[in-house]
Amino acid sequence: MKLAITGKGGVGKTTLSAALAQLYARDGSRVIAVDADPDTNLAATLGFPDPDSITPVFEMGDLIAERTGAKPGAMGSYFTLNPKVDDIPDDFCPEHDGVRLLTIGGAAREGGSGCFCPESAFLRALMAHLLFGRDDVAILDMEAGVEHLTRGTAQGVDALIVAVEPGRRSIETARRIRGLAGDLGIGRVWAVASKTRGDEDREFVASELGDVELIASIPYSAEIVENGMRNAGVGELLDGPLREPMRDLRARLEGELR
Ligand SMILES: Nc1ncnc2c1ncn2[C@@H]1O[C@H](COP(=O)(O)OP(=O)(O)O)[C@@H](O)[C@H]1O
Ligand SMILES: [Mg+2]
Repeated sequence: MKLAITGKGGVGKTTLSAALAQLYARDGSRVIAVDADPDTNLAATLGFPDPDSITPVFEMGDLIAERTGAKPGAMGSYFTLNPKVDDIPDDFCPEHDGVRLLTIGGAAREGGSGCFCPESAFLRALMAHLLFGRDDVAILDMEAGVEHLTRGTAQGVDALIVAVEPGRRSIETARRIRGLAGDLGIGRVWAVASKTRGDEDREFVASELGDVELIASIPYSAEIVENGMRNAGVGELLDGPLREPMRDLRARLEGELR
């Protein structure tokens, strides 16, 4: 199962991504979580003990140079478009509680920008490796939108999940993303509501979403807020407020993607 999570900033994408990754890891699936948001915080949300010590892919300049045969950032020099990447997840991505983490970093973006450079060639090869082979489960925690996804990466994703909160702006973002996703060839786009405070909020979100289907809701929880303040990692929440919402979401995903 390869899922990409997007949505407006602050709606709960990273919380949802980390919860999904840990849920599947607990069951013994091979899971890789990809932090594709330049504002990286998936490591902390997954409970990694020393998030600041993790080197993002885009800062692995020597490795990228070695694998692509080019100097990072060098314009006009020759480099290979299919560098060796199959050892990267095991050898360069740290693991915690059964979840391997790949942090991309903010220095550059894949595709969308039209960047033709060793870094993006390396990242494209790596994403293809993660999405089309290897692990059972890959979860991509993205920034808002899908513009930074290449067609290749987009087509490796089984579904795009847009996190929304009960508010018009995040819902507008979801509808805009729905349109862009179709252009990229992503067939399935679902919404997950976050921070809902009862049926009224859920109904508001469901009706405002239009043709983006709402497949689950994660209720507002003071425990989730408090967990975020401690930077504790969402693992403990899977035995608390995230237990039922994630169980329902999982059942729904598995029903739809079967
Ligand atoms: N269901 C929820 N109830 C309460 N707070 C939440 C919930 N989901 C996320 N949060 C909090 O909202 C903030 C933003 O969440 P985060 O997952 O980092 O969003 P994003 O990745 O979309 O920017 C965090 O402080 C997080 O703890
Ligand atoms: Mg985030």
